[in-house]
Amino acid sequence: MQDHFQHKAQEWDKGDIRVNGAKTIADAINESIKLDKEMEILDFGVGTGLLGFSIAPQVKKVYGVDTSTKMLEKLQEKNTPDLSIEVYNQDIIKKPIDREFDGLISSMTLHHIEDLDAFFARIYKNIKKGGFIAIADLESEDGTFHADNTGVFHFGFKEEKLLNAAKKAGFSDTAFRNINTIQKPHRDFGVFLFTAKK
Ligand SMILES: C[S@@+](CC[C@H](N)C(=O)[O-])C[C@H]1O[C@@H](n2cnc3c(N)ncnc32)[C@H](O)[C@@H]1O
Repeated sequence: MQDHFQHKAQEWDKGDIRVNGAKTIADAINESIKLDKEMEILDFGVGTGLLGFSIAPQVKKVYGVDTSTKMLEKLQEKNTPDLSIEVYNQDIIKKPIDREFDGLISSMTLHHIEDLDAFFARIYKNIKKGGFIAIADLESEDGTFHADNTGVFHFGFKEEKLLNAAKKAGFSDTAFRNINTIQKPHRDFGVFLFTAKK
């Protein structure tokens, strides 16, 4: 699989929009989900760990999955004995992991996933009964968020599309709300948090 993030990894954590955006997503997840120290959480598309490291102090352990070796190398530079994320460097839709988590979090990754039905069906199997998913990404946009749309399969998402795909996989208690606005010189882009229960 092609790594579209190999040249972005080095500078990833230097972007204020990305760093502050991940903090806003972590705050929104905390408003929607009661996290606790017993939980094992999977961060899908963990990247350099911007979201995962914000959530890690509140839970037992964060695991991260990502297809980009370079992004995960940057993450591993930030691991310490006190706070670390254990990573899976693979596409878990094509090469699943046989493990269940208490919840799944994800930031700005879903638009890189071509087959939404396959994604939701797969992660359903990786979540314990009673567990949650909390996925943040762009609201529907006009294709101008990224300067280069290579590897972008969705120009954001409409609420209905996610609700339908998640329900089809078996998730319930779905909710979708705006949590942030990213301001770029040419226009604003909304960011949503989508949550559901298994
Ligand atoms: C826009 S970055 C977001 C990274 C991080 N969540 C953040 O908010 O900073 C998207 C990440 O998703 C990863 N990714 C893309 N397709 C993936 C897939 N099929 N499975 C897992 N990770 C994927 C990319 O390698 C990249 O690290």
